[in-house]
Amino acid sequence: MNKMILLGAPGAGKGTQAEAISDKLGIPQISTGNMLREAVKNGTELGLKAKEAMDSGALVSDDIVIGILKDRIAEPDAANGFILDGFPRTVAQAEALDTMGVAIDVVMEIAVPDERICARMSGRRVCESCGASYHIEYKPTTVEGICDKCGGKTVQRVDDTPETVLSRLAVYQEKTAPLKDYYAKTGKLVTVEGQEEVADTTKLVFKALGVQD
Ligand code: AP5
Repeated sequence: MNKMILLGAPGAGKGTQAEAISDKLGIPQISTGNMLREAVKNGTELGLKAKEAMDSGALVSDDIVIGILKDRIAEPDAANGFILDGFPRTVAQAEALDTMGVAIDVVMEIAVPDERICARMSGRRVCESCGASYHIEYKPTTVEGICDKCGGKTVQRVDDTPETVLSRLAVYQEKTAPLKDYYAKTGKLVTVEGQEEVADTTKLVFKALGVQD
């Protein structure tokens, strides 16, 4: 169970659970969202191309994302497995992963109703240095505004405004939700119901993976 995909709507808790699995299994969390935000922050050519789509809640083009993902999984720390958080997000991206010859062990969907997602997003804070994700109520930092992991500053994401969250949810339904069928056909899809508390979801995630809590 070392190569896994986390599927789920924006704010379903993919990043939060990917961090927990990464800590537990010692395999890297690979978040295309975090990589793209880093590129935007650093003003790279890639970041300039991605920024407009990200700020509006649209998807970055398949070509760009497939390229960065391919390079990332070729890095040494991914040799023993990884958790894909936010990739694939279209059928074309899933097909590209297959073409790369990546044998995925499990695809885990974290299911959360849209109403709960909108409430969650307003309280999310992310570390601007390492990308770790927090919530002011459900997963607060020990010191307000400071990342527990790296000491960086935590901030609100520009795409977490209520209007942008609604368009991201619509994009998810149109472009990403079809991946559930894509992976159900392979027999690799498992669904975990996202719970009110982070720790309760983590328990279900570990149980589904057959990992000791
Ligand atoms: P990305 O960063 O991947 O955003 P996303 O998929 O929209 O997902 P989020 O990061 O918003 O949510 P999450 O599910 O990780 O939830 P989290 O754990 O933070 O992508 C951003 C943008 O980049 C995209 O819009 C697109 O433009 C581009 N992009 C990225 N990948 C791409 C791709 N493959 N192709 C094309 N474009 C791509 O949790 C949310 C909040 O809730 C947190 O505050 C958390 O603390 C809290 N929380 C989590 N679980 C619980 C719980 N159980 N109870 C209470 N609170 C909880």
